[in-house]
Amino acid sequence: MKDAAPQPVHLQEYAPPAYLVDDVHLTFRLDPKATRVSARIAFRPNPAAQDRTFFLHGEELTLVSARIDGQDVTPKITPQGLTCAVPDAPFTWEAEVDISPEANTALEGLYISNGMYCTQCEAEGFRKISYYPDRPDVMAPFTVRIEGDAPALLSNGNPADSGAGWAEWHDPWPKPAYLFALVAGDLRAVSEGFTTASGRPVELNVWVRPGDEGRAGYALDALKRSMRWDESAYGREYDLDVFNIVAVDDFNMGAMENKGLNIFNSKYVLASPETATDRDFDLIEGIVAHEYFHNWTGNRITCRDWFQLCLKEGLTVFRDQQFSGDMRSHAVKRIEDVLQLRARQFREDNGPLAHPVRPESYVEINNFYTATVYEKGAEVIGMLRRLVGPEGYRKALDLYFDRHDGDAATIEDWLKVFEDVTGRDLTQFRRWYSQAGTPRLKVAEDYADGRYTLHLEQHTPPTPGQPEKAPQVIPVAVGLLNPNGDEVVPTTLLEMTEAKQSFSFEGLAAKPVPSLLRGFSAPVILERETSAEERAFLLAHDTDAFNKWEAGRQLAREVLAKMTTEDAAPGPAYLDALAAVARDDTLDPAFRALALRLPSEDDLAQALANSGITPDPWEIHAAREKLKAAVARHLAEQWPALYREMACPGPYTPSASDAGRRALRLTALGYLSRLDTGDEARRLYAEAGNMTETIGALSTLLEIGRGEEEIEAFYARWSADRLVMDKWFALQTSLAPPQRAAATARALTEHPDFDWKTPNRFRAVIGGLSANAAGFHDPSGASYELVADWLIRLDDVNPQTAARMSTAFETLGRYDASRQARMRAALERIAAKPGLSRDMGEMVGRILG
Ligand code: PHE
Ligand code: ZN
Repeated sequence: MKDAAPQPVHLQEYAPPAYLVDDVHLTFRLDPKATRVSARIAFRPNPAAQDRTFFLHGEELTLVSARIDGQDVTPKITPQGLTCAVPDAPFTWEAEVDISPEANTALEGLYISNGMYCTQCEAEGFRKISYYPDRPDVMAPFTVRIEGDAPALLSNGNPADSGAGWAEWHDPWPKPAYLFALVAGDLRAVSEGFTTASGRPVELNVWVRPGDEGRAGYALDALKRSMRWDESAYGREYDLDVFNIVAVDDFNMGAMENKGLNIFNSKYVLASPETATDRDFDLIEGIVAHEYFHNWTGNRITCRDWFQLCLKEGLTVFRDQQFSGDMRSHAVKRIEDVLQLRARQFREDNGPLAHPVRPESYVEINNFYTATVYEKGAEVIGMLRRLVGPEGYRKALDLYFDRHDGDAATIEDWLKVFEDVTGRDLTQFRRWYSQAGTPRLKVAEDYADGRYTLHLEQHTPPTPGQPEKAPQVIPVAVGLLNPNGDEVVPTTLLEMTEAKQSFSFEGLAAKPVPSLLRGFSAPVILERETSAEERAFLLAHDTDAFNKWEAGRQLAREVLAKMTTEDAAPGPAYLDALAAVARDDTLDPAFRALALRLPSEDDLAQALANSGITPDPWEIHAAREKLKAAVARHLAEQWPALYREMACPGPYTPSASDAGRRALRLTALGYLSRLDTGDEARRLYAEAGNMTETIGALSTLLEIGRGEEEIEAFYARWSADRLVMDKWFALQTSLAPPQRAAATARALTEHPDFDWKTPNRFRAVIGGLSANAAGFHDPSGASYELVADWLIRLDDVNPQTAARMSTAFETLGRYDASRQARMRAALERIAAKPGLSRDMGEMVGRILG
């Protein structure tokens, strides 16, 4: 019999918890098959609650005993938890349960990864460890005793006591259960001391498996820089005696901010020049910072309920973006962040999975750790900061920390501090949290008698459940340039609040060229018809680095769109503008690399769909290949020189400046290889001194349909290294030519090293195929079928990761009838699987609409 459809949870239905927790004591007797978890919890009735039902969440637990104030009780147990009669006064609850970490393949709760015990509790995993009110607004100090024969026995807070085969931890900071963590295994610490601004000594440890000690240094260094930065940028200090980071191989997400014991996907901790690319180093720095920053934005101040997820995630992403900008280049970081935003969030926001930054209902909260909550959530904070200015922002944040430390807060609380500090009414601004969809901003202009007027019109297309949208507050940063290239009006912030609004600038001697939405001042799609010449002019003259890049990108999109739909040849405006960028050595190499790269195939599909054209992924692929060849030929003389000049002398360092040079060098190599059939890339592969160059050379070869020998050589060299092998798998599926992508991926799923239960490996192969736009959209439907087969298979084992990857199908509505029918058939096949998880059921249901 089919289970009844799982019921959604609604924001509107929030009710305070019936009981609060004053204290938690947990004892773990570790055993792979039967770990005994004993809990002693001090409860008290919540005076703020109406309801007096005593309910504890609990799933997949075997209850051994339960007592209230020392007396045995017999609770009523359901698959979701238990209820029990309790006194109308504070009481002590004691319970013992057995759980099986070994059988836990979903990687939620307590599980075993490569022989080591570890936990993942966000969002609702603690209920698989102990009976508990598993909701973020119940906060308590935890004391944890671990018994087990492992060299490292770790939990949250400060070490309290230890002996042979046991250790105790005490976390004085009240926290919700989702921040609980435990790790036990054969781990080694790479350690360093740190002294906070006010003089508190802190021991920093990165725990890795024996043999990986040499790959922990960069994460440790990033941690120290993050701690220092949060002190100076936000006045936030660390608040425990130790800070532990653990690397685990099996992890559903990137990393987790458990109080004092961050757990990371090993891919975002371990790095050496030989095994990690510049991009890996960059990600490690950003993710270490992100998790560390959660200590204040997430842990000290947490979320009242999961609808408020963006309260901690949007803010923490915003903070890690600021940090990375400070560590590297703000311009380059902004461009990279917007590339990500468009690739993931705009895509989501313009399809069946669109939802507000603060969703109003969900079936499975794990499905809402999305680009919208994270990345658009961060953009919303960036807009707030732009509107109130950096000083207003800092004051508001000071008040936020002051007023809400120790709270489980809401978006209303968050906006209120801005209102109180700045006196601004944020009623309309709140729509950024409640309305889904990417606003379109239409721009028209006129000029007469020295007066230049911009006419702006906003419109947000309907999204699921939201047919009509009200106008939003859109901060539009604008600068004006003279026809000779000088800036006549420096960056000015226009505050658009109406559906239609005009803004004028007086006293201009000639009709200016506008540079609109500087720094990408709002997450909107700008709709403005203009000439290729004007875009090329901005690419050459704009003083705003983001818009300089954006002009080139728009130009490239338009060229590609024409090549795709009309089979046109690329015009000189674009090719000459690119040549100028390639030659301009006053520009940061990292910026030049970004400007010389073409928009992705999915970006172009998105752009075509937005302008009402049905994209054909194979035609897009072919056009993009043609454009690459044309750019390669147009600048044939420059590539070898650029390639040579950008070599980094001396030993590898992951610094932003060296990474920028390598990025430009590899971009040059990419074009060069379209002229020399890959000779230079083969040479680089043979001589490469670091993984960035190795991967750069190998991907270049794969992109031109070569590299077979190198793929074999790479395997022979790195087959024992899991993280490096993930790259090997992912490169082959994501860069396979469209006609061969499905077959390549299928062959790799038969490879003995395809450990599909390890999320990183599954994502490398199946995620790699989904990321290969033309390959995934093979008109035969072969890739849809293969991805569906594997999602069905993974759903039984790890529903969270499987459901997340179903987003490969979220672009369904964009494509032609034949592709749509095949995508639908694949999705319906998933939907029909007996025993489909709630996670996957919700995702597939939303995509099918
Ligand atoms: N809270 C984590 C972060 O953003 C992400 C995460 C969510 C990890 C759910 C695991 C499970 O830093
Ligand atoms: Zn986070």
